[in-house]
Amino acid sequence: MCSNGPMAADDPELLRAVAVRIAREAADLAVRMREQAVRRVHTKSSGTDVVTAADTAVEELLRCLLAEARPGDAVLGEEGGTEGAADRAAQPGPVCWVLDPIDGTTNYLYGLPWYSVSVAATRSGVGLAGAVAEPASGRMWSAALGGGATLDGHPLRVSGTVRLDMALLGTGFGYRAEQRARQGHLAAALLPRIRDLRRFGSAALDLCAVAAGWLDGYYEHGIHHWDWAAGALIASEAGAVVHPGGPPGPGSLFLAAAPGVAGELVRTLDELGAHRV
Ligand code: IPD
Repeated sequence: MCSNGPMAADDPELLRAVAVRIAREAADLAVRMREQAVRRVHTKSSGTDVVTAADTAVEELLRCLLAEARPGDAVLGEEGGTEGAADRAAQPGPVCWVLDPIDGTTNYLYGLPWYSVSVAATRSGVGLAGAVAEPASGRMWSAALGGGATLDGHPLRVSGTVRLDMALLGTGFGYRAEQRARQGHLAAALLPRIRDLRRFGSAALDLCAVAAGWLDGYYEHGIHHWDWAAGALIASEAGAVVHPGGPPGPGSLFLAAAPGVAGELVRTLDELGAHRV
């Protein structure tokens, strides 16, 4: 019988179990390292885009664990990857693991608890499984394609909101000053049209918050494949509309929202000039 036989190597539930296990180990390392890691910091795309010693060490650990557990698979990580590698991750081929060792590095640096380890297994740009570990709380969010999304084993469902003017949304800002200014203008124009707007600082967790109904939607321009991959699957498995369905292009708009407000959110952002951000 199929149900009793061995699981295929790309079975989403098997991949989810691997993602959860390695994300948990990585989260433990992030917590253990914090005090020393925040003293060893450098910057990358701009002076405010920081990388701590933990970002690098946690990604190395994830890569080692994957090499043991899934030796033939490809890996794309925030600290070891480039945008070119992100394009390759969208091509047909073996399972590709997309890693953000610490999503919300600025929160980690300042001692704020809203940061995460994000691990996704993808194939041809499609999410098969994902885990988002919250090191500070110990919470574990996960999903498998077609198998639903959970928080610590409890099933997740998006909110039933149907009015954008009553919707609580999340957003984020990139690290380049010019783009931030444009994102700020868009947020200012959107604010009078919604209940309120949150900027928590970890895109992966913002997407999990949509999955749990803690936010009615989330949008951001220019997020990277690693910020998005696990959280987008978790949101979509909890019933969110995720746009675009595949990896967002460089600088482009990405959003996830409860079905009752997603269409109106897309139209409103478009009307407010989201395409110019
Ligand atoms: C950032 C966070 C933030 C989002 C930025 C991301 P990082 O990731 O997810 O919420 O607004 O666009 O770059 O730099 O902390 O891994």
